[in-house]
Amino acid sequence: MSHEPLVLGIETSCDETGVGIVRGHTLLADSIATSVDLHAYYGGVVPELASRMHLEAMVPTIKDACTKAGIQLKDVDAIAVTGGPGLVGALLVGVAAAKALSMALDKPLYGVNHLAAHVAVDTLEHGALPEPSIAMLVSGGHSSLLHVPHLATTVESLGATMDDAAGEAFDKVARVLGLGFPGGPAIDRIAREGSFDAIDFPRGLTSKHDLENHRFDFSFSGLKTAVARWVEIQERAGNHISVPDVAASFQEAVVDVLTRKAIDACVTHNVETLIIGGGVAANSRLRHVVMERAAKHNITVRIPRPGLCTDNGAMVAALGSVMVSAGVEPSDPLFGADSSLPIENVRI
Ligand code: KG4
Ligand code: ZN
Repeated sequence: MSHEPLVLGIETSCDETGVGIVRGHTLLADSIATSVDLHAYYGGVVPELASRMHLEAMVPTIKDACTKAGIQLKDVDAIAVTGGPGLVGALLVGVAAAKALSMALDKPLYGVNHLAAHVAVDTLEHGALPEPSIAMLVSGGHSSLLHVPHLATTVESLGATMDDAAGEAFDKVARVLGLGFPGGPAIDRIAREGSFDAIDFPRGLTSKHDLENHRFDFSFSGLKTAVARWVEIQERAGNHISVPDVAASFQEAVVDVLTRKAIDACVTHNVETLIIGGGVAANSRLRHVVMERAAKHNITVRIPRPGLCTDNGAMVAALGSVMVSAGVEPSDPLFGADSSLPIENVRI
């Protein structure tokens, strides 16, 4: 008999209905139903549609995860669910399902922080997290730099985006370039055919003055506007626009700022491990540049495989498992979904 906890995790903060099952740091199942195709028609996630799709997908996704893991629901030691941050209607579906399971099975329930779960998922690939670590989360909803002294209980924010999230910038620039939604994978692909130094786009919050007040914060809204304006000027002048060059140059500006600030956070806090999570962590150029720069400072970079970087249930189960193993008390069963849950609340 293994003493490692068997944990089922539920994720519904955005447009992915994810159910993951882990034992300790071992991933047993990661089932996902996504409504992304439905949102693609509107060019972005429509919250009400996402909530309805979670409702439809929840029970089949739970069943699918149990089948894949070869377990029965009564076998689990604990249930974990994303309590926030995220779209409140979407979160509510997961929280209600998790409460129902917890009550029916008489198992402890952990309402967990989505951002901390993005960090925890790495334990499924690379084992226990060296503590302290620095984590950079870059997705469609968030861009944050975190100091993680103790993943089960204590996560501190070093900085975050002041406007658009990194993934949001990818999505908006992709729209300007006619590349569809979600934009990140499309830009990543087409950028490989372009030159990253073709156009010198601005690097937000990197001037000496900005670094004094916003050393670990990000801003991508100015970059997005700069790309749109550049395209508009070229079109008006009747010039040919190389979409691969624009995509590669834009991507380089994002990657340059993200990697510079992440490495700076590690050096400043004397931390040797950098974890990168969130959808944008799937970006091939980001992976390449961060490895190159980290090596110069003897920093170890841990990035989960792309399928675990985007939203999923396994990440929630992984954080639940870390909490159970650390002896963290379960959540009060009366907790509610919190759309703006601060990162300091690792568990609700
Ligand atoms: O973590 P995630 O699945 O959902 C949120 O919590 O937002 O991240 C989705 C975001 C989208 O903005 C998408 O365009 C971006 O991650 N993304 C990428 C790549 N794959 C997904 N951005 C850049 N390069 C990629 N390869
Ligand atoms: Zn996410």
